[in-house]
Amino acid sequence: MTNDAIPNLSAYDDDSLDKAFTALQKQAQADAAAMAGLDDLEAFRLKWLGRKQGLLNDVSSRWLKAAPPEAKKSVGERFKSLKSLVESLLDSAEGAGPSDAALAAEAIDITLPGTRRLTGAEHPITRTLNEIVSVFAALGYSVGVGPEVETDFYNFESMNFPPGHPARDTQDTLVVACQERRPLRDRLLLRTHTSPVQMRTMEQQPPPVRIVIPGKVHRNDAQDATHSPIFHQVEGLCVDRNITFSDLKGTLDHAMKALFGSSVKTRFFPSFFPFTEPSADVQISCIFCGGKGCRKCKQSGWIELLGCGMVDPAVFAFAAEKQPAYDPRKISGFAFGMGVERIAMMKYGISEIGQFYAGDMRFLGQFA
Ligand code: PHE
Repeated sequence: MTNDAIPNLSAYDDDSLDKAFTALQKQAQADAAAMAGLDDLEAFRLKWLGRKQGLLNDVSSRWLKAAPPEAKKSVGERFKSLKSLVESLLDSAEGAGPSDAALAAEAIDITLPGTRRLTGAEHPITRTLNEIVSVFAALGYSVGVGPEVETDFYNFESMNFPPGHPARDTQDTLVVACQERRPLRDRLLLRTHTSPVQMRTMEQQPPPVRIVIPGKVHRNDAQDATHSPIFHQVEGLCVDRNITFSDLKGTLDHAMKALFGSSVKTRFFPSFFPFTEPSADVQISCIFCGGKGCRKCKQSGWIELLGCGMVDPAVFAFAAEKQPAYDPRKISGFAFGMGVERIAMMKYGISEIGQFYAGDMRFLGQFA
């Protein structure tokens, strides 16, 4: 497309004007038809509508402005319709977009489903753990944590398992290798329970204490349907003046009702833990049969769920080495510890503990 100059008009009668304008209209149509791509579109725009060198600008100055007064109207009308023709040619060329072939080459099947991201969801263990923690958070408990690789001192000695004491055999322990040269209390092991964090907490703060401690624990146990060498516990510790066994019973009865439903009953059986005295195992009425007796509760109507007891004065004595306010003559407290897997298995009716760790999406997807 070259910029053909606009000749001056010699006559302004209707016939001459028609001829002159029709020629330009045809040219504009021919130019528009010859356009192929975006560059041509821009060239067309410049050629016809360009502010300085555009043909319409030329027409305006050579024909319209130069027209004698009596011909101004008829030139003006024709000029207007030429201009709108050029503009509409440009509009429709712009609107036409890429060619059919170009579109076909880029075509995508919009009926295909999009790439969907899987929704993340809490693992059932995490969910249960958070649920247990929030029951106690609502009672004013705060949350504490401690290391999974623990010293013999915190895991055992300060929890009143003296070196060589047979109570240590109840928690078959995975120890870190090559520690023999260290004094026994400094040797590292994988904590067998969350109870060492009781001591770590008391060393850090004087009473009162109300804390729950969720975390991972390790035992050298063979895996079976209900045991895993790695599992989770939530520990609880409450220390203040005048804390009694009734406080312990009331707290755990409330927690079990909050976790399993208000119709659940609790009962406390004498038990033994070195760090509590007296100690108890807590049983809840079977949530599967309502206490009538079924296969799950071995026809007893009760299911054992957690351990608890009043903090042993010997434990307070270890705490008092750093925080003298833990004087068993002035304060008392209770502690409890529960297995998260066991509670999750009950709540969701899961019979194989291994399902929690297998990473099978068919299992985990049910909790999404
Ligand atoms: N630590 C005990 C265990 O792992 C549970 C427990 C915690 C019992 C606190 C009493 C008090 O078996």
